[in-house]
Amino acid sequence: MVSTDYKKDFPLLLQPDAGGLPLAYLDNAATTQKPRQVIDAVRNYYETFNANPHRGAYSISVRVTEAFEEVRAKAARFIGAADPEEVVFTFGATDAINQAAQSYGEQAVGAGDEILISVAEHHSNLLPWQRLAKRTGAVLRYLIPDQSGRVTTEELAAKLTSKTKILAIAHVSNVLGGVNPIGELAAMAHEKGAAVLLDAAQSVPHIPVNVRDLDVDFMAFSGHKMLAPAGIGVLYGKKELLQRMEPARLGGGIVEEVTQQDARFLDAPLRFEAGTQNAEGVIGLGVAIDYLEAVGMEAIQDIERRLMDDALQELCAIPRIRLYGAGDAEERTGILSFNIEDVHPHDTATILASHGVAVRAGHHCAQPLMAHLGVNATCRMSLYFYNTEEDIRRLAQALSTVREVLGFEP
Ligand SMILES: Cc1ncc(COP(=O)(O)O)c(C=O)c1O
Repeated sequence: MVSTDYKKDFPLLLQPDAGGLPLAYLDNAATTQKPRQVIDAVRNYYETFNANPHRGAYSISVRVTEAFEEVRAKAARFIGAADPEEVVFTFGATDAINQAAQSYGEQAVGAGDEILISVAEHHSNLLPWQRLAKRTGAVLRYLIPDQSGRVTTEELAAKLTSKTKILAIAHVSNVLGGVNPIGELAAMAHEKGAAVLLDAAQSVPHIPVNVRDLDVDFMAFSGHKMLAPAGIGVLYGKKELLQRMEPARLGGGIVEEVTQQDARFLDAPLRFEAGTQNAEGVIGLGVAIDYLEAVGMEAIQDIERRLMDDALQELCAIPRIRLYGAGDAEERTGILSFNIEDVHPHDTATILASHGVAVRAGHHCAQPLMAHLGVNATCRMSLYFYNTEEDIRRLAQALSTVREVLGFEP
């Protein structure tokens, strides 16, 4: 059972931190905390059916294989995929994007072609395309988000050409928090014959996402950002595309037959899952999805919007603060980046930590975006549904002390 006092389910959020208070954990874009339901499921797996899926004939191996494939079907349903075979388990979003860039990219992109990404991409959705462009002689071009931090259809229209082979874009920027209009962008890209990869690392955990409604060709996300253990993620791919792709990673468990000079691979998705799989991660992901569905993805979106509304009001009232991205909670998810005049974001984060408030400071693996914004770094607070108004109040209260603590005028 999931109660509405969500923090009760998260042991880490109950333990005392600085000043004896529990941590106000506002770094959920980096990773989320785990509910005891997920922790118990992983422990139960180790205690009762730890074995290698798809390998043994003995009872616990059969049991883990069934559980593994059930979670594949659950994950497919969760993202609106037509078929469980469109879900490839990966180590995370980074691994999923790397695999897509290698497997699909190298077959679809040639010299002189264009790959389009946005300047707000996380390095995980930038470096694989940069390498692909270098290796193939393709050109990597950048979309620029507008003032609200989103890529508009006008911007895409200005950059999309008949040479564009891939549009790889985040649903939600991990710095700016705005939701890109993916359905419209994907339709425009498809009209020009380009494939669309959606980096959904910051959307699948927070808002309802349906791959068929959005009509994207590939989508990547990570379990650890949605209550599940680290080291598990998903690459969604349309079946007809996955079936035509060569696996990027080679090893055990992916072949029909191997001879001295050749190999025939299994069908997707197994052909992309070389080596021993993270079965405990998959089991945890299944329970995480159950938990999120019990709360409801629309309810999660509403809770985060309400908290973001509070955060925008509270933070706007702090003197000499600069907020990045949209000023309206309706236009963003629970990510808010900011800087305080004269203060390095690392100093801000350290002072907040002394109040038991956890935020992230740095370039957030988005250096081209930092250059575009004209800063080296920002502070970022990021919400999840278990956060409370009290967490926001503590953030604002601690932030209001920062300039004074460092000897600046308030
Ligand atoms: C937008 C975005 N894409 C990709 C990633 C990479 O996710 P992971 O490190 O879980 O592979 C992140 C992580 O912060 C992210 O925010």
